Amino acid sequence: MSHASWNARRRHLLSQMQAQGGGVAIIPTAREVIRNNDNAFPFRHDSYFYYLSGFTEPEALIVLVADAHQQKSILFCREKNPEREIWDGFRYGPVAAQQAFGFDEAHAIDALDTRMPELLADAHRLFYCSGADAELDTRLHGWLASVRSKSRSGITAPDTTTDVRSLLDEMRLFKDDGEIALMQRAASISGVGHARAMRVARPGKFEYELEAELLHEFRRQGAQSPAYPAIVATGANACVLHYGANDACIKDGDLVLIDAGCEFDSYASDITRTFPANGKFSPAQKTLYELVLASQQAALECARPGSRYMDGHHAAVRVLTQGMLDTGLLDRHKVGTLDDAIASNAYRQFYMHGTGHWLGLDVHDVGNYRETEKSGTEKPYRCLQPGMVITIEPGIYVRPAEGVPEAYWHIGIRIEDDFLITADGHLNLSRDTPKTVAEIEAEMQHP
Ligand code: GLY
Ligand code: MN
Ligand code: MN
Repeated sequence: MSHASWNARRRHLLSQMQAQGGGVAIIPTAREVIRNNDNAFPFRHDSYFYYLSGFTEPEALIVLVADAHQQKSILFCREKNPEREIWDGFRYGPVAAQQAFGFDEAHAIDALDTRMPELLADAHRLFYCSGADAELDTRLHGWLASVRSKSRSGITAPDTTTDVRSLLDEMRLFKDDGEIALMQRAASISGVGHARAMRVARPGKFEYELEAELLHEFRRQGAQSPAYPAIVATGANACVLHYGANDACIKDGDLVLIDAGCEFDSYASDITRTFPANGKFSPAQKTLYELVLASQQAALECARPGSRYMDGHHAAVRVLTQGMLDTGLLDRHKVGTLDDAIASNAYRQFYMHGTGHWLGLDVHDVGNYRETEKSGTEKPYRCLQPGMVITIEPGIYVRPAEGVPEAYWHIGIRIEDDFLITADGHLNLSRDTPKTVAEIEAEMQHP
């Protein structure tokens, strides 16, 4: 992505701040977190910070200033440090970072406590997310106290705080061309990883061996990390929605559910495939697989501008519930008609999660799902618009229970793809990942 994109986003945020009377925005990156002793978790920058900067070093913070005289963007980052750079690698330092990332000013992060009271003096409004970083909250209180202490000289401190996320979430919801290209790349890499796991899978292998195939492919193709912990769930484990142990042995006759996606240049993909360990769906597995696939297709028909966010979920639930009645998973004598089974939530015994979410820098990306401007009790779900990216991920999970046909016990299936909403419909970003019964069985024939 070009630095012009990050600069344009800062300018856009500044103009929105101006429209609210101006003020100062403070957006920090994430903190490094210790894993154990002196060993840190791999650092992942904060998504909001990255969205506005493209800067990936820790210990950095963006300040945007919009007032009657000026609009400027300032980066605080670590100083150059030849000694530390021998140990930890290159760091830009303020001078090079200002140039490379197109900021109006850049300063050493160590100068925050002296610079921030000056920047906050006479600011109309503070744009900040409090409660996310307790240490920064405390420092901010100190800076504000320092500004207030000058009140006798006529200097004022901001008296209103707006959560800056309310502006940034809406911006992040609509992906620009650079973001879409990265999300396409992420989904394509993940798709190759899924196909690779299908080819390698066989009874006797362990779940983690398939996870390793995915991670290998992600990294081999330049993805920096998984976008979330991979789920590789064989047999009954597939009915545990957030299964993560990935340490069981795969048995003949099992279905294997893999929910895994890479993060490429900070953008997530999120793909789930379910396939038979031995390469051939059993009749019962095939019946439920085709049902989930049909429900995804039904949801997909709502993946276009003008549909409301929840329409796809309702369409998927309808198909799934009809299938539950047809297969005897739900007993018509107990649950009644299709509409009854939906109204009473009877289908939730086998389908208990939503059908998707926004996708972007975060796997469960930011953005309101409902219209915010409407007042009243029940705000309607918002309409899909070009540039939004969603997942569609229906599933079915059959735990043993009285009255549930035994042929379906322990079957867990989810099918998940990533879709860009376009002017006339959608683009499936994960379209190359084998998905139909025929495609999966064919892929598994090629070790
Ligand atoms: N992998 C997380 C999700 O599917 O929502
Ligand atoms: Mn998902
Ligand atoms: Mn997923």
